[in-house]
Amino acid sequence: MTINETSYDTVFGKMAVEQGFCTDAELRHSLEELLSRRKINPVMLKDLMVDLGYITQNQAERLKKSIKESKAAAHQIPGYQILGKLGAGAMAIVYKAKQLSLNRTVAIKVLPKRFSENPEYVERFYKEGQAAGKLNHNNIVQAFDVGEAGGYHYFIMEYVEGKTIYDDLAAGKVFSEDEALDIVIQVARALNHAHACGLIHRDVKPKNIMINKAGVVKLADMGLARETTDIEAAQTEAGKAYGTPYYIAPEQIRGKIDIDGRADIYGLGATLYHMVTGRVPFMAEDPTDVMRKHLKEQLIPPDHINTTLSAGISEVIEVMMAKRKENRYNNVEELLEDLEAVRNGQPPLRAHKRFDVSALEQLEIGEAIEAKPNIDIEETLARYRIIMVVLGAIAGALLLTTILLLLSS
Ligand SMILES: Nc1ncnc2c1ncn2[C@@H]1O[C@H](COP(=O)(O)OP(=O)(O)O)[C@@H](O)[C@H]1O
Ligand SMILES: [Mg+2]
Repeated sequence: MTINETSYDTVFGKMAVEQGFCTDAELRHSLEELLSRRKINPVMLKDLMVDLGYITQNQAERLKKSIKESKAAAHQIPGYQILGKLGAGAMAIVYKAKQLSLNRTVAIKVLPKRFSENPEYVERFYKEGQAAGKLNHNNIVQAFDVGEAGGYHYFIMEYVEGKTIYDDLAAGKVFSEDEALDIVIQVARALNHAHACGLIHRDVKPKNIMINKAGVVKLADMGLARETTDIEAAQTEAGKAYGTPYYIAPEQIRGKIDIDGRADIYGLGATLYHMVTGRVPFMAEDPTDVMRKHLKEQLIPPDHINTTLSAGISEVIEVMMAKRKENRYNNVEELLEDLEAVRNGQPPLRAHKRFDVSALEQLEIGEAIEAKPNIDIEETLARYRIIMVVLGAIAGALLLTTILLLLSS
């Protein structure tokens, strides 16, 4: 027996972890304990976690209050009937609802109150919401509306009946190369469309990639503005609400303002890395250590972890995850060319054309290794053809000379 994915206890537990009040392991232990006590001595997860000393009474009350208020706010949104909870994430609770006018099911994300207190954030929330509303792509969760009710800002979007890539990864799944490519190509198409419309996602990760019942991949949270400086956010308690930054691009960690589409390429690369190796690219207990590794530590090539991977996919991931954005693909269109080539069993020519990124970056992080020259595959083939022609001509001339010598003797 398990606990319902959207029960009060589940939402409470997820939020306790996301807010940095307790660890994943502590939550897991609490849930096991909850199940074992269910028949004889049922308790609320909230009280159990306080009893076990994993969270304080004060934290429990604060969480309870915010869940209650968020629910009350959701019920105040005019024109929608709340049907239940869909989940809780890094910064919000997501509800399933019925849009009464069109009689359709939608998903409503209610943001925490602290966002409303930051006028700059609210402004960006509406601006990006409008931009996301203009997007129209089969692989993007469609944005329907944004607004405010009971002091809470909300985002109304297409309801996706299915699961997230995170759900599969959390269950221990390692994706086959073909399946991973099929999913990542669909996400890349979504990003290509968004980037062409001037919108950067900034939070590409397994939890934001959903697969619906028909197997269509949907990129979620497009247009949900993140707070500006991720590093500050991640270092404060409030920031821990973002979860551990396993997929974040180095330039976002550095708090650069001019984030472009290449940050999304990094996030997608880190996601693909996790899917095909079963491991996040940089692992550490503390979010600050994870971020330090994104900035400084050399990536273990994916095919060193999963030796069944093709050299092609490994190379594509390494280029996607280059620490300096200049060493990644210039844009998602280039990335798509390589992803599709690898899926068709061909070499990723775009990746080949780049300077040997890993060598360059090892130099950057202080390891003296010899950088390999940039060898263009087409150039190599052309050289090979010339050599073959010259060798053929020499062989022909030798044969002719031998025949002439034989005839004259
Ligand atoms: N459009 C949607 N349709 C159905 N379920 C959704 C939708 N958006 C989010 N969810 C569910 O709600 C959960 C919480 O989402 P979110 O608040 O974006 O947090 P995160 O992205 O960190 O998981 C997701 O993991 C997913 O299970
Ligand atoms: Mg999300």
